[in-house]
Amino acid sequence: MRLAERAAGISPSPTLSIDAKAKQMKASGVKVISFGVGEPDFDTPEHIKEAAIEAIKGGDTRYTPAGGTLKLKQAIIEKFRRENGLEYQANQIVVSVGAKHSLYNAFQVLCQPGDEVILPAPYWVSYLEQIKLSGAEAVIVQTREENGFKLTPEELRAVITPKSRVFLLNSPSNPTGGVYSREELAALGDVLLENNLTIVSDEIYEKLMYDAWSM
Ligand SMILES: Cc1ncc(COP(=O)(O)O)c(C=O)c1O
Repeated sequence: MRLAERAAGISPSPTLSIDAKAKQMKASGVKVISFGVGEPDFDTPEHIKEAAIEAIKGGDTRYTPAGGTLKLKQAIIEKFRRENGLEYQANQIVVSVGAKHSLYNAFQVLCQPGDEVILPAPYWVSYLEQIKLSGAEAVIVQTREENGFKLTPEELRAVITPKSRVFLLNSPSNPTGGVYSREELAALGDVLLENNLTIVSDEIYEKLMYDAWSM
């Protein structure tokens, strides 16, 4: 069977390969601490399990609007208002099946062949494959340890070309743990605005901060 070029051109996730290997080693009796997939080391909390069971029992098993139910969108709007001081309307929210799916959708709707996506490195492994799937080219910019692995406005400006379309921001970052301050974000934002770039901001680790940084 012939696969489409775009499918043949992507590589498997190294994270999932590492996880499979760690599980296999554990099964054979080797003591392993796995830094592969980012799963909690505790079971799903009881109230979450109960809510899922109740929803199924209550008949919540039919098609929903593709972008998410209004009730869920309202809960997301409330989260942004309460925790981030941001105001959104329901028609600005789209719910997907996890962060991977959201990012895939974002690159699909924003990018096409001929576009460039600025990707600060080190980066989470799947960004590159998702960018490739959209037909765009990833422009990988190495960040430096002395800057806490954070891109400076000068470094950003130096890689912008007329083809630049999207800037990928991941703060707090997987894998570096780097967190941009409000001032650093504003300085990058100025350069991005000047050049009319769209920001794809992956804030999946918003709650995993272990010092006193605040928005
Ligand atoms: C930075 C980052 N974004 C997105 C994801 C994927 O999230 P999800 O499991 O919700 O698809 C991960 C998972 O490792 C991640 O590290």
